[in-house]
Amino acid sequence: MCETTRGQSGHDLLMPFRVMFPKDKKCTDRFTASLKAISLFLFLSSISFVLYSSFLRHHDLWFRCPECPDPTIRPRGDNPTHQYNSNSTTNISHIVFGIGGSARTWKDRKHYSQLWWKPNITRGFVWLDEEPEPNTTWSDASPPYRISSDWKKFKFTSSQSAVRISRVVVDSFRVGLPNARWFVMGDDDTVFFTENLVTVLGKYDYRQMYYIGGSSESVEQNVMHAYDMAFGGGGFAISYPLAAELVRIMDECLNRYFNFYGSDQRVWACVGELGVSLTRESGFHQIDIREDPFGLLAAHPMAPLVSLHHLDDVQPLFPNQSQLESLRTLTTAYKVDPARTMQQCFCYYHNYKWSISVSWAYAVQIYPWLLSAKDLETPLQTFRTWRSWSNGPFTFNTRPMSSEPCEQPVIFYLDSIKEDKKGKTVTTYKKSPVKQEKCNQLNYARAFAIDKIVVSSLKMDPHMWEKVPRRQCCEASKGFWSNTMTVKIRNCKHRETITM
Ligand SMILES: *[C@@H]1O[C@H](CO)[C@@H](O)[C@H](O)[C@H]1NC(C)=O
Ligand SMILES: *[C@@H]1O[C@H](CO)[C@@H](O)[C@H](O)[C@H]1NC(C)=O
Ligand SMILES: *[C@@H]1O[C@H](CO)[C@@H](O)[C@H](O)[C@H]1NC(C)=O
Ligand SMILES: *[C@@H]1O[C@H](CO)[C@@H](O)[C@H](O)[C@H]1NC(C)=O
Ligand SMILES: *[C@@H]1O[C@H](CO)[C@@H](O)[C@H](O)[C@H]1NC(C)=O
Repeated sequence: MCETTRGQSGHDLLMPFRVMFPKDKKCTDRFTASLKAISLFLFLSSISFVLYSSFLRHHDLWFRCPECPDPTIRPRGDNPTHQYNSNSTTNISHIVFGIGGSARTWKDRKHYSQLWWKPNITRGFVWLDEEPEPNTTWSDASPPYRISSDWKKFKFTSSQSAVRISRVVVDSFRVGLPNARWFVMGDDDTVFFTENLVTVLGKYDYRQMYYIGGSSESVEQNVMHAYDMAFGGGGFAISYPLAAELVRIMDECLNRYFNFYGSDQRVWACVGELGVSLTRESGFHQIDIREDPFGLLAAHPMAPLVSLHHLDDVQPLFPNQSQLESLRTLTTAYKVDPARTMQQCFCYYHNYKWSISVSWAYAVQIYPWLLSAKDLETPLQTFRTWRSWSNGPFTFNTRPMSSEPCEQPVIFYLDSIKEDKKGKTVTTYKKSPVKQEKCNQLNYARAFAIDKIVVSSLKMDPHMWEKVPRRQCCEASKGFWSNTMTVKIRNCKHRETITM
């Protein structure tokens, strides 16, 4: 073993090490050379260590996702997702909701969240701009609240609160709730249908980067904002790995898009920088329409009803009820058969050449003439565009609602719901209390004489939505003297078609 005396060598690089040696021992040149090599090795190792740990810090979002695939582990066998337990089905506990609210307006909006929020079951927060007034009591029926972080430091042109709400996904992620698979954003006036939301998200692999939602109903809105953006009021879902990436880039990204209009547009821009595009699901409803949403909801697309929005800005769903009462009526039926809610099916009552269209748990229409399947599934235009209150265009086809009484359907709205133990449900619909102008044609008089429609169906299996959707068939019947019509919804028979 070779030792050295302090101060013998003039190599500055070795100075820190040399002080550790006893001063009375001598050292050879060979020792100095190997000490140099060791020190150089230590020096290089410490640099690599610093670099490596900053790499880890940079990537630690991956390691905070307990169920996400570790990119350094190569999956074994044919099924690459096997080892990540991908077959555990998504349920409500895997979703973290992030509601964009504000302290001042919460009291006017909270009833919307309270309609769908299930204390101790749904997880997530309402994100507020500031602490609510100290004298307000926060209801247990509301989602718990948190205050948005750091939102005042960003550049903006039109709305500072849009910046704040666009960061709800970041704030929600940072809470770090365990077993989060999806972050679902919504406004404080968004009504979610959570069972259907779970069904829809369950179709997608949460380990991949998904951005799921819907666009606006009004073309003018999509032109002004974007067609391929998820409109925030309808709600949208971001999978865990995408949220993790957003957290990493968002703050910088927000300053690049400071002149954008809404919070949803900012999220869309940042998601776009990650190369991810929108996955459309037609059950998310921004409801960018005015006046009566009837036509749209009576011909819902074949997809589970996931959300409704802008309910303060359209007529109540059910006439003679406030919007809140309407939503309670709808929700009561929804709970019995979530997957079937607002699903449309239609059939013909051939004796009288009538067309009958059912939107389950909402309304039934009788057209006292024969109308093709293509017409029946096209919404009647009972509404106008969002921004300019124009007569269209919309992102789907519509049929004009005639002002001629003899060309209008007779409308019935949900009145009651019953279920038996075998999963059979019976919904009844009563004639609309809104007085229709009389049409004197015989066929019309007969349809007007109907005052109640009884619809029976079996509960819809949510797994049906994993397959190619197929509209169900129905059979309409009526006793000769009766003014009640019965409609039985069932699966279509082999080779059955819906033909007038
Ligand atoms: C997932 O599937 C594998 C076999 O394919 C099975 O052994 C395992 O129990 C399943 N896990 C769950 C949570 O269903
Ligand atoms: C959701 O699934 C997880 C397993 O992935 C389970 O632990 C949890 O209890 C489930 N939650 C509900 C509400 O079923
Ligand atoms: C939710 O859970 C907490 C704690 O377990 C309990 O105190 C509270 O009563 C629960 N609330 C509801 C509405 O079940
Ligand atoms: C709470 O206090 C504010 C003023 O601090 C007042 O304007 C408001 O009416 C109070 N609200 C209630 C529910 O007492
Ligand atoms: C519905 O409301 C209108 C006016 O708002 C009223 O005239 C009518 O009686 C109501 N009908 C029912 C069935 O409540």
